Amino acid sequence: MSRIAYVNGTYRPHRVASVHVEDRGYQFADGIYEVVLVCGGRLVDEEPHLDRLDRSLREMRIEPPMARVPLRLVLREVLRRNRLHDGLLYLQVTRGVARRDHPFPDAATPPALVVTAKRLVLPDRETSEKGIGVITIPDIRWERCDIKTIALVPSVLGKQQAREAGAGEAWLVADDGTVTEGTSTNAWIVTGEGALVTRDTSHAILAGVTRARVLAIARMNGLAFEERPFTVEEAQSAREAFLTSATSFVKPVTRIDDRVIGNGRAGSFTLQLFDAYMDHARGVGT
Ligand code: PDD
Repeated sequence: MSRIAYVNGTYRPHRVASVHVEDRGYQFADGIYEVVLVCGGRLVDEEPHLDRLDRSLREMRIEPPMARVPLRLVLREVLRRNRLHDGLLYLQVTRGVARRDHPFPDAATPPALVVTAKRLVLPDRETSEKGIGVITIPDIRWERCDIKTIALVPSVLGKQQAREAGAGEAWLVADDGTVTEGTSTNAWIVTGEGALVTRDTSHAILAGVTRARVLAIARMNGLAFEERPFTVEEAQSAREAFLTSATSFVKPVTRIDDRVIGNGRAGSFTLQLFDAYMDHARGVGT
């Protein structure tokens, strides 16, 4: 079945879906995006994703392309037209199409909205248990990483560097030696005392929807957690490490640079959170 994309008011076959050459996203990366997990045909954590979309738009001073109720209808229509059961929805809003000039175009220029869907095989526990390696690299991004902008060149370069090193992700390290986050994921460790640690939200990281969900799961299960920065050295000697995102779920990290974490397999806290997050995603118990 062919994929269908929503592009500025119309549903188009994916292979011919396109935007104008003077879309400001194309010329200036002047836009923002969201990636929402779809599990069993349901949008996982839809509201927090749409809240973050609104926040990113506000911070960028881009008008919402439509109100939330019609936007939710568009998302459902994209799901329906793609017969998407398990996968991802990608939403992108840019400051619209205008003659190339750095300042904002005039107020009559509507923002541009694109929504695409892609299928995904959900991870099983056995494959996840192996975990992935991460490399650490300097965080060379800008000072507003809390905004989910489409300006992702440092992340693209970092992820490619990880791939070429045989790793699954790159953790970005600030000047003070602390890990900010991954190129497209939030970073976590478990201390020797069994406390979960992830960096506190600030302009230095994206406030991950999965991060917030995992913290809520930890709270519900009485697990100890701390929101604070940690160094690469602390991570390398941690009991467990993992990362989270809408596309990575809860993914065990079993190597950081050349240091094996724990016994080189996913740890028990990580697997407990993996199971609880997958239950949440599948709507088990809701
Ligand atoms: N990335 N940090 C960064 C820099 C990210 O780009 C992402 C998400 C996250 C995790 O956020 P969430 O849990 O809401 O997915 C953290 C998406 C998935 C992407 O760029 O494809």
